[in-house]
Amino acid sequence: MAKIICVLGNKGGTGKTTLSHMLCQGLGLLGHRAACILTDVSREPLSPNGRRYITADARNGDALTKVIDKLRSLDDWIGVVDGAGNRTDMDRRLYVMADIVLLPFRDSHEDIRAVVRDLDLFPRAYAVPAQWPVNAWQRNAADRNVTHMMNAFRHRILKPVAALSSSKLLLQKQVPDQLPSPLNRGCRALAREVLEVLEIGVDSDKGDEPRADAVLASRLPAADMPLRVQRAG
Ligand SMILES: Nc1ncnc2c1ncn2[C@@H]1O[C@H](COP(=O)(O)OP(=O)(O)O)[C@@H](O)[C@H]1O
Ligand SMILES: [Mg+2]
Repeated sequence: MAKIICVLGNKGGTGKTTLSHMLCQGLGLLGHRAACILTDVSREPLSPNGRRYITADARNGDALTKVIDKLRSLDDWIGVVDGAGNRTDMDRRLYVMADIVLLPFRDSHEDIRAVVRDLDLFPRAYAVPAQWPVNAWQRNAADRNVTHMMNAFRHRILKPVAALSSSKLLLQKQVPDQLPSPLNRGCRALAREVLEVLEIGVDSDKGDEPRADAVLASRLPAADMPLRVQRAG
């Protein structure tokens, strides 16, 4: 049966849409069949042409039910539902049907406070540091904020998705023929980690480029920055 991943969060502008598309692109690059499902009524659908995944328009409730039912009837598909801010009731509905829930947040006290509330509300959800600074000094400051403000949730924080200006290419109606390698690497690293959480193996990764997650991991001061999922057992 297909897996459903929901990208949620009460705050707008945290990176839900970007994360949803990066994840789908990464899943596609790793040989998985993925669908990015739009639910935000204030955004327009994006063409699937040139992407490693399909896009689905589920901006009304009926369409969403249909798309999810269709996906659930298929094997080996992964549906990524791109949520929208300020929709706690909708988020609750999506949470119930999701196999996993991702809550992106940026490096700001406001985003962190909002994601902490969502982590409390949704006990099975994971927070994803998104648009994370790449500059070493800023990165350290951002990591320290997380350690300080989210210590109670440290086992539910995935590895950061770096700020990548090329990520906006995935939100164009039509993607260019070739996407920059750093973007594809970031997408793959994200997809690998999510597959690990879902406990789905990665079998068709060509592995032709160095793993971005390995690069990121080597930068983490392991002792005080546990931005890794630690699963019991
Ligand atoms: N990893 C990233 N790197 C660079 N910019 C990003 C990244 N993720 C999001 N952004 C930017 O942040 C803004 C909000 O992102 P978006 O995905 O639309 O958030 P949401 O869907 O939560 O409203 C957009 O301008 C987007 O391009
Ligand atoms: Mg959005």
